[in-house]
Amino acid sequence: MADVRDDQTTGAGSSLAPGAAPARARRRWWLLLVVFAVLVASGSAFAWWKFNHTVFDPTPLPRAWINAPFVTTPPEVVDAMLELAEVKETDLVYDLGCGDGRIVVAAAEKFGCRGVGYDIEPERIRESRERAKTHNVEDLVSFEQKDVFTLDLAQADVITIYLLPRYMKKLIPQLQALKPGSRIVAHDFPLEDIPPDKKVRLQPAGEDNEHTVYLWVAPIKVPPAEAPAS
Ligand SMILES: C[S@@+](CC[C@H](N)C(=O)[O-])C[C@H]1O[C@@H](n2cnc3c(N)ncnc32)[C@H](O)[C@@H]1O
Repeated sequence: MADVRDDQTTGAGSSLAPGAAPARARRRWWLLLVVFAVLVASGSAFAWWKFNHTVFDPTPLPRAWINAPFVTTPPEVVDAMLELAEVKETDLVYDLGCGDGRIVVAAAEKFGCRGVGYDIEPERIRESRERAKTHNVEDLVSFEQKDVFTLDLAQADVITIYLLPRYMKKLIPQLQALKPGSRIVAHDFPLEDIPPDKKVRLQPAGEDNEHTVYLWVAPIKVPPAEAPAS
């Protein structure tokens, strides 16, 4: 008993030496902090990797966060796009991000031309095929689940697009490779600072919003990069 009392009094040789407990607590906090930092860093690295690989992932949820949203072009605007592009029977029309397939189906129905709609969402492809069937143009149009940024557009005579500005910009290199005379028509969003050959505004009946349709005829004229300010 005497020994124990002595020990507690002096602290000699015991873990209760003055200053030992706070030092150990500090070490524990540092360790926790390092573990936390490692977890945050590896979590962020995984999230970044996942973000960059999810476009091709067949699960619908993450793609829906990343891709351009599904918003449809009103029928009057579809008509204006096809008119501005002067679509004719011999044309092959591609819709990049075709949604429910309304643009290529309308083109085939009105002009008897062929069309291909591309969309990354399988549900959109199902809807598009259903629409083609309902409108009796299955022999003229087809729909493929593909990422539009992987497409070779060389065969197309007309390209229709309704995608957000950052996607429009990303498409420019592919659009530069179009054959001369091909037409590009876009709903609401321009091709960055590439001046359109024509531009029309229209307001569908019963809508508050005005829509803009842009036309470019290939080869598109990409302005030279600005010299950096000295
Ligand atoms: C604004 S909607 C336009 C639908 C249709 N073109 C229209 O005008 O009614 C855009 C569509 O592009 C599709 N999309 C987004 N990113 C895509 C990608 N990288 N490749 C293919 N389709 C994509 C979306 O799933 C959506 O259906």
